[in-house]
Amino acid sequence: MSKEPLPIQRKVTAPGLRRRKEAGEKFSVVTACDFPSARAAEEAGIDVLLVGDSLGMVELGYQNTLPVTMDEMVHHCRAVSRGARRPLLVGDMPFLSYQVRPEEAVANAGRFVKEGGMDAVKLEGAGPMLGAVRAILDAGIPVMGHVGLTPQSIHRLGGYRVQGKDREGARKVVDDALALEEAGCFAVVLEAVPARLAALVTSRLRIPTVGIGAGAGCDAQVLVAHDLLGLLPGVTPRFVKRYESLYERMVEALSAYRADVESGAFPAAEHTYEMPDEEWDALEAEFPGESPAMPGRRVSGRDQRGPVRNR
Ligand code: KIV
Repeated sequence: MSKEPLPIQRKVTAPGLRRRKEAGEKFSVVTACDFPSARAAEEAGIDVLLVGDSLGMVELGYQNTLPVTMDEMVHHCRAVSRGARRPLLVGDMPFLSYQVRPEEAVANAGRFVKEGGMDAVKLEGAGPMLGAVRAILDAGIPVMGHVGLTPQSIHRLGGYRVQGKDREGARKVVDDALALEEAGCFAVVLEAVPARLAALVTSRLRIPTVGIGAGAGCDAQVLVAHDLLGLLPGVTPRFVKRYESLYERMVEALSAYRADVESGAFPAAEHTYEMPDEEWDALEAEFPGESPAMPGRRVSGRDQRGPVRNR
């Protein structure tokens, strides 16, 4: 991997996103959970990277996001923050890291910033969570809200269901989003709500809305990188647009590698290091008659093959 530094561009900030809304400019958000995905997202010009607790499912293989721990989140945040500088980096607070007491919420949000290198945190819900939101903001950490389908509450919601389909549910989505804006959030995720409702919320808020399964009327969109890249097999949810099928391509590449190893086609001469002939001849003289059946290469002087690894 090359160590070429990326060109320095203006860092995306939480207040800057609000100005983007005022200017009518949409922006993109994607999840990232490791160094290469962060680096690729930065190079693609993505504005906000969310280290989502969905990583518990797509990276760690949990059934849902509930088992994800603070330590797991911080570990992934550290990798992401080493891979991207321009995007705003948002760490997703895992289940029970902010629900119990506001002081605990502040301490955990602080870990995202101090240890994980994040610029902001996200948490799910409004109502009883507003105390935690205010306390984290008082500590100087920007907060992104999240309403509609909040996956940390799947047991209460009865599964991954679209929210706000009736008037009462829709009013709750509007009220929750307004309360998060009022509390000081810099943006709010709207997950799995009808497009008309998301557009209404977007028109009512001064802060940007970030939609996922919420239609085109939001100020920004977020997708889980694994979904849009097709990094896992299985059914893609309706709201996802798949831009790649990387899982199938990985299986193809790994199968080709296995076949090459089994047939002897890999490694070829160009993947192999050599030693100067005079050194080899001297060594061979120490082991008369024991020369290995290696496809040798006569080279003169120093091997010019370059460094072992270019990093
Ligand atoms: O955890 C996550 O990835 C999220 C986004 C999908 C909004 O919360």
